[in-house]
Amino acid sequence: MEMKMFLPLLLLVCSVSTAEHLTKQQTCTQDIHAVLRKMSAWVAALKVEVQQLQRDNEGMFTELQSLRGAHAAELAAVKVKANMVGNQVEALKREREAKHLAFSASLLASGQGHTGPFNTHITLIFKHVVTNIGNAYNPNTGLFTAPVRGVYHFQFHIFGHGSKNPTSAVLLKNGEQIFTSWTSQPARSQTASNGVSLLLEIGDVVFMRMWANSRIYDNQSHHTTFSGHLLFTM
Ligand SMILES: *[C@@H]1O[C@H](CO)[C@@H](O)[C@H](O)[C@H]1NC(C)=O
Repeated sequence: MEMKMFLPLLLLVCSVSTAEHLTKQQTCTQDIHAVLRKMSAWVAALKVEVQQLQRDNEGMFTELQSLRGAHAAELAAVKVKANMVGNQVEALKREREAKHLAFSASLLASGQGHTGPFNTHITLIFKHVVTNIGNAYNPNTGLFTAPVRGVYHFQFHIFGHGSKNPTSAVLLKNGEQIFTSWTSQPARSQTASNGVSLLLEIGDVVFMRMWANSRIYDNQSHHTTFSGHLLFTM
């Protein structure tokens, strides 16, 4: 700053004085040289300063870039977390909805009649649905499919008219026999019942099977029934 003002002033003084004295001109020339030396030192210092500023600038740029990178990574992590929370909320909603599970059905959709005897076992399809909260019981296939892991209670009442054929059925879980109801007498009517609490995994299938040579009766009074309820999830 000082140099900028000092140089023109010096030049002005010198140009005015040249006409008067030669010795003064020499002094002026020396002064100008001194000023120029100072100026070049000043310019050199300035250069160093500019270089330092450039380096600082580059450093700041690098820092900014890494900050931007960190920010982007943080944002991505937050997004992932938000997604996870969203999924958890959905899962909780599904679980809450799935906690309400109950079905009751009787064998015949309408009318009355015997089922069996057959020379092989068959799946009993309880077609008259009274309750099916949660739709885990399928009245077209007779299969109950667990939508959540938990303990379920099932009960079944199998009605029949006495004859040479017993009145019997068995509850199966994934094809494995769990509990059986069986009764046999030559005349009159009879009911065989049973019930079970089962720990089911998601997708486990429970259904009723009538044994070969057995005979079951049902009518509009709905004597032959199959029910299931979720007691609690696990
Ligand atoms: C259903 O069958 C039982 C036993 O045979 C009988 O007592 C009842 O009256 C029948 N119900 C109807 C609606 O036919």
